[in-house]
Amino acid sequence: MTDSALAIVILAAGQGTRMKSSTPKLLHGLGGVPIIGHVLATARALDAAHVIAVVRHERDRIVEVIDAELPGAAIVDQDEVPGTGRAVEQALTALPADFTGDVLVVNGDVPLLDAGTLSDLISRHRERPVAATILSTFPEDPQGYGRIIRTAAGALDYIVEQKDATDAERAVTEINAGIYLFGVNQLRDALAEVTTDNAQGEKYLTDVIGLLRRAGSEVAALPVGESWLVEGINDRAQLSAAAAKLNALIVRGWQLAGVTVQDPGTTWIDIKAKLAPDVTLLPGTQILGASVVETGAVVGPDTTIIDTEVGEGATVRRTDATLSVIQAGATVGPFSFLRPGTVLGPDGKIGAFVETKNAQIGRGSKVPHLSYVGDTVVGEHSNIGAGTITSNYDGVNKHRTTVGSHVRTGAHNTFVAPVNIGDGVYSGAGAVIRKDVPAGSLALSVAPQRNVAGWVADKRAGTAAAEAAAAATAAAAGSESSALPNASE
Ligand code: UD1
Ligand code: CA
Repeated sequence: MTDSALAIVILAAGQGTRMKSSTPKLLHGLGGVPIIGHVLATARALDAAHVIAVVRHERDRIVEVIDAELPGAAIVDQDEVPGTGRAVEQALTALPADFTGDVLVVNGDVPLLDAGTLSDLISRHRERPVAATILSTFPEDPQGYGRIIRTAAGALDYIVEQKDATDAERAVTEINAGIYLFGVNQLRDALAEVTTDNAQGEKYLTDVIGLLRRAGSEVAALPVGESWLVEGINDRAQLSAAAAKLNALIVRGWQLAGVTVQDPGTTWIDIKAKLAPDVTLLPGTQILGASVVETGAVVGPDTTIIDTEVGEGATVRRTDATLSVIQAGATVGPFSFLRPGTVLGPDGKIGAFVETKNAQIGRGSKVPHLSYVGDTVVGEHSNIGAGTITSNYDGVNKHRTTVGSHVRTGAHNTFVAPVNIGDGVYSGAGAVIRKDVPAGSLALSVAPQRNVAGWVADKRAGTAAAEAAAAATAAAAGSESSALPNASE
């Protein structure tokens, strides 16, 4: 049910300079979703009456993600005054004037934050007559975070940013998680007092806490035991640590749901992927995007699938597959490359060193060895000979190849598209198929073989080849004469 007394403000205007990246920090991904996408999904779960996202740096790219993940959110553009305090101040202008509820402020860079932690914060805040309740934690490394300064009695007093802190304040290991709940009116009044008089020349949201205290209001900081839940991502080292943590949680979740994951440390599963019970994932496997793996399938080792479906009982070894469908009982690999639009039918096979693209290969059909099959439809129970290439590109346009059912093509064929090969066709080894082949025909394109007897003795006299040939000829003659008496017996 919608919480009519709750507004959520998501701070997404910062540049993220510590990432040292041309991509905005909040668009760097973990688990297949950008950092900001995780926060938006969590915000969506709370079902607040108002959601406001503040943007500025690369605003269009950030807004695109917001529109996709949380279409109901209002977008507020932060002006040139920097700082989290300014961001919230401007966000409040998007709230209806008669809103008197609570404002939950969440930094956009805390991807592992979950809705349960936020619901707890909201209910703890509402139990007591406080102007603000914030989350704190004790991370392994407090460097860079704002420190929580408590009174001698242990009450929250103020927050000081690392860059403004004294040595004594920096020695504090409890940090501000960047997740706050405020009464809207107290927040608005306090923000009006915040200045840019600090080491970074920014309006700090964190100053609101000290200001509320001095105005005689109660404020509280609730420590979160698992610090990874609320840690902000500022640099790429923190990003990879958070990604590993998220992955460990995802892998464990699937293990408890019945998936065998032989080596969790080298197995990566994106948040949107789905796996059935009794799937087996072997070491070095990545199940990325919205991939789906059905029961009994074995994927890996050393396999990456992206937005790919793997059917019941299928096997995919040492393979790279994107936007492909591998149907029940099919086998793929090792060393196969399935590009977008590959559909391998039930019990089909794509074997070693085979590349496919936009290729629909029917039930029971096989492309077992060393081939490229692109822009192609293959019927059922056909076999494409080793080393076959569909020559689909004439340098300007792509053309299609169609192969019927129960076809047996010879080794090392080239299908020069556009070309149609009918049902039940056979083709000879090395054929270059340029013209359509009617059903049931044998297609041959290689000239009949001609053996020039004695050519080596004549043209390569004195070589090892010539000696070997002479020896073989003599041996054959000897065995012929010794065989004769026996034959007459
Ligand atoms: C902030 C807190 C710090 C806390 C830490 C927790 C302040 C002043 N400091 O520091 O106490 O320990 O988070 O992770 O708030 N943003 C804007 N507009 C801006 C600046 C930032 O929207 O002008 C957004 C950023 O996009 C980001 C969030 O606010 O999502 C936090 O900004 P960031 O620069 O990462 O703050 P920290 O220095 O980490
Ligand atoms: Ca941060």
